[in-house]
Amino acid sequence: MSGGNIAIFASGAGSNARELIRHFRGHPRFRVSLVACNRPEAGVIGVAAEAGVPVLNLERERFFRGDGHLPDLMAASIDLIVLAGFLWKVPSALVKAFPDRILNIHPALLPAHGGKGMYGSHVHEAVIRGGDRHSGITIHLVDEQYDHGRTLFQARLDLMPNETPETLAQRIHVLEHRHFPTIVEAFLQNQTSC
Ligand code: GAR
Repeated sequence: MSGGNIAIFASGAGSNARELIRHFRGHPRFRVSLVACNRPEAGVIGVAAEAGVPVLNLERERFFRGDGHLPDLMAASIDLIVLAGFLWKVPSALVKAFPDRILNIHPALLPAHGGKGMYGSHVHEAVIRGGDRHSGITIHLVDEQYDHGRTLFQARLDLMPNETPETLAQRIHVLEHRHFPTIVEAFLQNQTSC
């Protein structure tokens, strides 16, 4: 990896995107250069606009063609893609174009509670329904299967008595905001020092 231009891909409220943008603002080597989003009504678009980060609107047909948005990513000299609440499966051509250069955060302890349809509140509902005593976050490399690539980091929490999907989501977000930016930075430091 030659440089440090990060593209955040997100579909939702964008609280993780906000923390990543904040973390890298003024960083001497790495910067969030682009926010890519597949939902025009998503909160993350406002987060990017407020921070002055350009937004790329992902179009379904171009995205799932795999290389359809590559020219946009190349034009922004993107080195690393960070999925922060991104709900579309990354197509194989994009994984191949960014080998070991796409990171994802998942709001549970993979391999538990991963896979198609497992995102946001669905994950927290499954954790509680399953009677799990712990949950947590997983930051991992993205490969061609859902929620599957090499794990870089996990942090766990104990479920509280009377935990609800809402309380769990909130506590998971605290963990995510604490760890995601520093893990992304450490990953970039490692890659660019090789
Ligand atoms: C985060 O909790 C993230 O882990 C989750 O979506 C939320 C997005 O929140 N991602 C997934 O569930 C992916 N399978 P945010 O928009 O506030 O960052």
